[in-house]
Amino acid sequence: MIGRARRRLVAGNWKMHTTYAEALELAEQIRRTCSEVTEVEVALLPPFPWIVPLAERLQGSAIILGAQNCSAYEQGAYTGEVSACMIAPFCRYVIVGHSERRRLFGETDDVVAAKVSVALRHGLRPILCVGELLEEREAGATLDVIERQLRMACAPLSADTCRELVIAYEPVWAIGTGRAALPLDAQLVSAWIRRWLVERFGAVATDIRILYGGSVTAQNAPAFFAEPAIDGALVGGASLNAEQFCAIVRAASRVETGSLQ
Ligand code: PGA
Repeated sequence: MIGRARRRLVAGNWKMHTTYAEALELAEQIRRTCSEVTEVEVALLPPFPWIVPLAERLQGSAIILGAQNCSAYEQGAYTGEVSACMIAPFCRYVIVGHSERRRLFGETDDVVAAKVSVALRHGLRPILCVGELLEEREAGATLDVIERQLRMACAPLSADTCRELVIAYEPVWAIGTGRAALPLDAQLVSAWIRRWLVERFGAVATDIRILYGGSVTAQNAPAFFAEPAIDGALVGGASLNAEQFCAIVRAASRVETGSLQ
């Protein structure tokens, strides 16, 4: 069997959940439960204050950390903001353009592009979230929306830097609703994203990983990972349960597809 050129990534977005004690316990359980899986990259994206203590506790383990957000600004008088430079020593990834930030905090495509840019400048790999609202899907506008989000967010990228990017296709109606996309729909959109990336950046874009996110569970994860264009998952709710999360990680490690699309 031909090995995958792209290593699968399963990232747990804890959102604004967990107390300090819960965060330590959850990370420890995940470290223990996922330790035998080495083929999959496992990332935890905890709330900001837990990043440094978790970085200390996860030292020596394969689990890596990411942040859920970063400021679009480099530094300065921006009360309450956390810069890419501040998280970079502890994190490999940072989510940008999550639909909750776009919808609840008014982040525009320009702001998302600025975050991609500042993250890359500090050696962080952006996990860029794209996805359509239910009414956009129903209006047949899914690919138009995703095209705009990609085009704007990828503006700061070149063929040299695009490899640092991870895309998460997250249909907004599937996030936190228990109503995941159909794996085949996610496959079709992901394959379309891949074609767009290759057109924009050339053959190097075949290295960019495309994740699916939106109500991923231990039960439905294998069907997503069986799709050749899907390279992993961005997991919200199910990442708060170590057993569930590690079952998703194991599902990602089991599926091998030779064809990359
Ligand atoms: P969910 O969240 O798995 O709870 O749907 C996914 C996300 O917001 O990234």
